[in-house]
Amino acid sequence: MKPPRSTKRRWLAAAAFTTIAGTAAMAWPWKGAIAPVSRPAANLYSAETIERGRLVAAAGDCAACHTTEGGVTNAGGRGFETPFGTLYSTNITPDEATGIGQWSYAAFERAMRHGISRDGSHLYPAFPYTAFAKTSDADLQALYAYLMAQPPVSTEKKANALTFPFSVRSLMAGWNTLYHDATPFQPDPMQSELYNRGAYLAEGLGHCSACHSPRNAMGAEKSGEAYFAGAFVDGWEAPPLNTLSRAPIPWSETSLYDYLRHGESELHGVASGPMAPVVAGLAELPEYDVRAIAHYVAAQMQAPTANSDTAVADATQRVTSAAVSSTEMEAGERLFEGACAACHADSGVPTFSRASTNLALNTNLHSDHPDNVIQSILGGVHAEHVPGIGSMPGFADSFSNTQVADLTTYLRARFAPDKAPWQQVKQRSADLRQPHHNNSHSSP
Ligand code: HEC
Ligand code: HEC
Ligand code: HEC
Repeated sequence: MKPPRSTKRRWLAAAAFTTIAGTAAMAWPWKGAIAPVSRPAANLYSAETIERGRLVAAAGDCAACHTTEGGVTNAGGRGFETPFGTLYSTNITPDEATGIGQWSYAAFERAMRHGISRDGSHLYPAFPYTAFAKTSDADLQALYAYLMAQPPVSTEKKANALTFPFSVRSLMAGWNTLYHDATPFQPDPMQSELYNRGAYLAEGLGHCSACHSPRNAMGAEKSGEAYFAGAFVDGWEAPPLNTLSRAPIPWSETSLYDYLRHGESELHGVASGPMAPVVAGLAELPEYDVRAIAHYVAAQMQAPTANSDTAVADATQRVTSAAVSSTEMEAGERLFEGACAACHADSGVPTFSRASTNLALNTNLHSDHPDNVIQSILGGVHAEHVPGIGSMPGFADSFSNTQVADLTTYLRARFAPDKAPWQQVKQRSADLRQPHHNNSHSSP
């Protein structure tokens, strides 16, 4: 993976603008609004359909993006920082004036498959319709029923603050022509039912590649070899989920299942950051569905079904050799002993709040980029989605960037001794402290 130039979802870039504008001129015939309807009666849909729709919404993480911190579920208003300004998610409760209460199913389906709002205007792909387009009709219908059955909430719509010309929505018509494939999911007859179920969920509703695949200069996800090759999102690295994985102990299908189902895998660690709400959504799904996703991801990684004896022995060996510090980084070591070791070193005294997985097994410490380690130190780890896991306090207020850098460099040397030291860690710490996550990596 090349060093990222941006930590943000780069769904449109200036360089590409002319092409897009040119294509927009000859693009989609959809210009029209779809007539408003009155909100469907509450008893129109069966309880089973609504329940099915609830699971579809959980798989699609609708609430994660359509809810502000502490706000009403799906009432919108969460901001998305882009290199071109700020975009806000919308109210998808069935309020007739400010939500989707007047949307017919046809209008809803068009938005989910083609990224076009009821009034005919184009939506930006920060809304992952590029993935949702793969969803089956039956699932979309159930999702519509579920959303329409929720209590309507009236909200003030937040105006986007996008810079010209990115504020011109119709340009997305050109983008869609170039990059959006609205074909619903087609099962691969050469693959098993389990694989196809996993592919359906991962490529569609789960929109895993929206975070885990790098994007091109115009912000479209790359495919082919770059599919699942890792990317940067909201100041975090979404690690590679293909053969480029940097996990020190290679993932197995069993470990992937544990991680996706329970938010924790013994040989890897816990899901935190932007992956935490994904795991919380998956927790609602039936076991078969999560197994299917694990099976699909394992296939992308060419991972074995179970953890081999060699993998377990390798893990033990890594944990043993990281148990004693052998680096000569005094500043980092002092910080670690003072602030971290109580929870992160084997003192022989188990307490509830101690970390359950060893840092020597953590992908983030073995990545090419220090971002996730710095994020964990600054913001802590809040694993509410994983029952039985302690949480870790954030140190943003107690450590300077120099201290964060000393500590991060020390962690790398002690827990990932087979990897080269990270560069410019102090600058990265400063960048990641910015409330809107600095746009550019300082490394070229
Ligand atoms: C990654 C974040 C994200 C996720 C996940 C997400 N959305 Fe959105 N959605 C957005 C953003 C941002 C917008 C506004 C896009 C714009 O203004 O162009 C939006 C817009 C929409 C719209 C258009 C509303 C309008 O008034 O035009 C609908 C409908 C919608 N989302 C439904 C859903 C549903 C249903 C789900 C779950 C299956 C979902 N979204 C998941 C970010 C997200
Ligand atoms: C909103 C962005 C986002 C989405 C959507 C997302 N992920 Fe992640 N994922 C991340 C981030 C960020 C991390 C690193 C989190 C951490 O280290 O705790 C991560 C970590 C992971 C890991 C652990 C990798 C490792 O080597 O440690 C796996 C496995 C994973 N995601 C699978 C998935 C699957 C499967 C989906 C779709 C169902 C998915 N992710 C959707 C952002 C996302
Ligand atoms: C109160 C206990 C506690 C303290 C103090 C603590 N941690 Fe943690 N840390 C945890 C827990 C719990 C986790 C979640 C993972 C787990 O249980 O394995 C965690 C996870 C991590 C992770 C992995 C995060 C991820 O998403 O992969 C890193 C890196 C980390 N801690 C570094 C540190 C550093 C550096 C310090 C000292 C500045 C520190 N921790 C102090 C409890 C603690």
